[in-house]
Amino acid sequence: MLNKTIAIIGAGNMGTSLIRGILNAQLTSAKKIYASGTRMEKLEKLKTEFGVHITTNNKDAAKRVDIVVLCVKAAVIRKVLEEMHDVLHKDQFIISIAAGVTTESMEKIVGKNIPIVRSMPNIASTVGLGSTAISFGKYVHEKQHDIAIKIFEAVGDVVVVGEQHLDAVTGLSGSGPAYIYMVIEALIDGGVKMGLPRDISTKLAIQTVLGSAKLVKESNVHPAILRDQVTTPGGTTINAIHELESHGLRSMLIDAVATATIRSRELSELINK
Ligand SMILES: NC(=O)c1ccc[n+]([C@@H]2O[C@H](COP(=O)([O-])OP(=O)(O)OC[C@H]3O[C@@H](n4cnc5c(N)ncnc54)[C@H](OP(=O)(O)O)[C@@H]3O)[C@@H](O)[C@H]2O)c1
Repeated sequence: MLNKTIAIIGAGNMGTSLIRGILNAQLTSAKKIYASGTRMEKLEKLKTEFGVHITTNNKDAAKRVDIVVLCVKAAVIRKVLEEMHDVLHKDQFIISIAAGVTTESMEKIVGKNIPIVRSMPNIASTVGLGSTAISFGKYVHEKQHDIAIKIFEAVGDVVVVGEQHLDAVTGLSGSGPAYIYMVIEALIDGGVKMGLPRDISTKLAIQTVLGSAKLVKESNVHPAILRDQVTTPGGTTINAIHELESHGLRSMLIDAVATATIRSRELSELINK
């Protein structure tokens, strides 16, 4: 239990996932969480579901807490930090999940040597299976490293990386769920093309992706070896693999990660100008 007071500034999709994870992991109690947003009716739902405090006043939330978690879009980070500026102090620390906004930019806006952690989670945090990479600004202490890691471990796996790697993280695991949704969708259609009822094809495609991922993770065996283990000479799988290779499946995915990484860098440069 961290037992800290926490403000979730911008309790949308990701903010709500964090509240759920923090409470499920019993890192702190609902009474110690302040969720802010722009629409009271949306916040009321959070109050009903989780029992957290709610407010449309970011400054009011920030002044009450040990940890301020910024879950708003990058475009409003400056506005939100400027709003809270007067009440922020260096015994607090800030965690940002906003894509592209560097710790240096945020440190400049806040300007009080406040520790800032920058992270890149993904949407699977909603079901507790997120992948989050975090990096630390120059004022973050050792103790705060552990707290930030614990918070994101409440919604999945965590890796610590140098901030320069966060664009590649965005290209891989930040945007990655969308690539996998396309794979699932295509597998479903493959089954349907070959005559399976859509509901059965959907169930099989989802479980195939889920089970395969779980097996790689739990066996700790390289995916190429696992693939070889299910590839009978002259059988169905090797024929399918040949088809995938001739359409460049692996090159396509490598290029997708690279393209998303480059776009993340470009957007980050624009945001931090
Ligand atoms: N979704 C992902 O997969 C993902 C992955 C990694 C990182 N992120 C990052 O996570 C952040 C949030 O993404 P999201 O998907 O959770 O978006 P979201 O659902 O739109 O959540 C953002 C929330 O911020 C609120 N908000 C807007 N302006 C505000 C203000 N001035 N003060 C307080 N709250 C304000 C919004 O309220 P209204 O709805 O009332 O405007 C909304 O509830 C983004 O910076 C994104 O880059 C998202």
